[in-house]
Amino acid sequence: MLSRFTSTMAMASSSPIVLLSFLFLAIAAAEPASGTAQHFLGVSYGRLGDDLPPPHRALELARSAGAAAVRFYDANATFLVPAASSGLGFVPGVPNELIASLAASQRAADAWVASTLLPFRRNRRLRYLFVGNEVLSDPTTKSRWSRLVPAMVNLHRALRRHGLGRVKVSTTLGMDALVGQNVFPPSAGVFRPDIIDVAVRPLLAFLERTHSYLFFDAYTYFTWSANHTIMPLTYALLEPSPAPGYQYHDHGTGLSYTNLLDHMLDAVIAAMCRAGYCGVKLALAETGWPNAGDLDQFGANVRNAATYNRNVARHLASGAGTPRRPGMRMPAFVFALFNENLKGGPGTERHWGLFYPNGSAVYDVDLAGSPPAASYPPLPPATNDLPYPGQLWCVARTDRQGAVANETAVREQVATACADEAALCDPVRPGGECHLPDTVAAHASYVFSAHWNRFSKQYGGWCYFGGLAVETTVDPSHGSCKFPSVIPN
Ligand SMILES: *[C@@H]1O[C@H](CO)[C@@H](O)[C@H](O)[C@H]1NC(C)=O
Ligand SMILES: *[C@@H]1O[C@H](CO)[C@@H](O)[C@H](O)[C@H]1NC(C)=O
Ligand SMILES: *[C@@H]1O[C@H](CO)[C@@H](O)[C@H](O)[C@H]1NC(C)=O
Ligand SMILES: *[C@@H]1O[C@H](CO)[C@@H](O)[C@H](O)[C@H]1NC(C)=O
Repeated sequence: MLSRFTSTMAMASSSPIVLLSFLFLAIAAAEPASGTAQHFLGVSYGRLGDDLPPPHRALELARSAGAAAVRFYDANATFLVPAASSGLGFVPGVPNELIASLAASQRAADAWVASTLLPFRRNRRLRYLFVGNEVLSDPTTKSRWSRLVPAMVNLHRALRRHGLGRVKVSTTLGMDALVGQNVFPPSAGVFRPDIIDVAVRPLLAFLERTHSYLFFDAYTYFTWSANHTIMPLTYALLEPSPAPGYQYHDHGTGLSYTNLLDHMLDAVIAAMCRAGYCGVKLALAETGWPNAGDLDQFGANVRNAATYNRNVARHLASGAGTPRRPGMRMPAFVFALFNENLKGGPGTERHWGLFYPNGSAVYDVDLAGSPPAASYPPLPPATNDLPYPGQLWCVARTDRQGAVANETAVREQVATACADEAALCDPVRPGGECHLPDTVAAHASYVFSAHWNRFSKQYGGWCYFGGLAVETTVDPSHGSCKFPSVIPN
């Protein structure tokens, strides 16, 4: 409960904003307790941008959005120190790369805690530590999977030794921890066989023993966009659907769902129960909705992002819980504080923010969840809720004269794309239909389109190419040179 933060808060400042958050905490403290679970909604402070404001400004913005806490992906003192005196809860993270060494040596875990968290020993707003981020989602670093829980055990012991025993140790899992990411029906949720024994069961046993939470990343946006023909957008946005009202019935449990977030959380609970750990508490490390994206990324817009995050804040604050766990309370974090321009991948990746890097709000939201929907100012209309109806191509980004900004960088991207499948690039080789015009830009445009067409259904198959590519609705084909297109569905 937030009320526990208030008792020993070591205030470093008495600014009006800080006093306001005192008031907020006092109000939260007056609410009736529900079980032993904490509830708050915070925000992920991702920093993959080269244009982000300094930490004190970022923390001010987080507070202005009603966030109760900020979550980091590392434990850098430049950010932890101001966060610790901001009045917000703060959650440091152990980078994935450190897991093996922290698992191998108690002394390394002791040293890590001593050097990074000891300064915050008396700060009661430090309550959680995330060890790694989506470690079990990455098959290229499988050797880490068995090391995750040993690292958590060592850090847990180190925290106790340093007077930080109150800090709950956890890690974050993506929905891909479930077989096929499948949540249909929720009662069918089951952990992947390749991670269950090596990591998931030891993890659940550890979380149960230490009364910690299983933190999941659950994005209704992704599940809805993969299945938009069978469920309405309102279900994914936690909006009431038009009469007669859409509900999803789970015949396995007899439970009915009115929103996709509860549906997904209950699929995780089903998986935990199936693994033999029905009692472990669940929490949300990441959720959210993109405020913009590429042409093929339907549903990514300001209207839906605002609607989703406002509804999530209200739903979590209501304490309603899910059909399978009525009254469930949990810590949760919206992703993310800022649009982050250095993130790779599809356009949505760079548009999860509540704020633009210049500090302007992308839309109004109060993560504390109190304002009724009608009290917010009107939102811009959504213009891309349906899949783009035509064909799309992927071309090199050029200036008005048709030149690329950095030929070396473009050549590198072309070489990488051709290495994925050499035959894709035959048409631009000498004698090929698309060899002329023989310019870096023209060849790159062909190769980017061909690669996107070939790999768009696979992870990594998007129109990005190091930020040097852009989607177009205009067919770049000329003469006998036909550019492959992507038809979104
Ligand atoms: C912490 O962040 C600052 C600012 O981004 C950076 O200059 C510094 O190198 C980081 N420190 C570590 C240990 O990564
Ligand atoms: C979409 O829905 C179908 C049928 O309910 C389900 O089998 C499938 O796993 C879903 N796909 C995703 C990506 O959620
Ligand atoms: C901040 O950036 C956004 C997006 O680029 C822009 O629309 C807005 O006008 C900017 N606000 C200010 C105050 O510059
Ligand atoms: C162009 O790209 C290359 C390779 O990515 C990079 O090393 C170089 O610094 C870039 N040049 C400029 C002017 O940005």
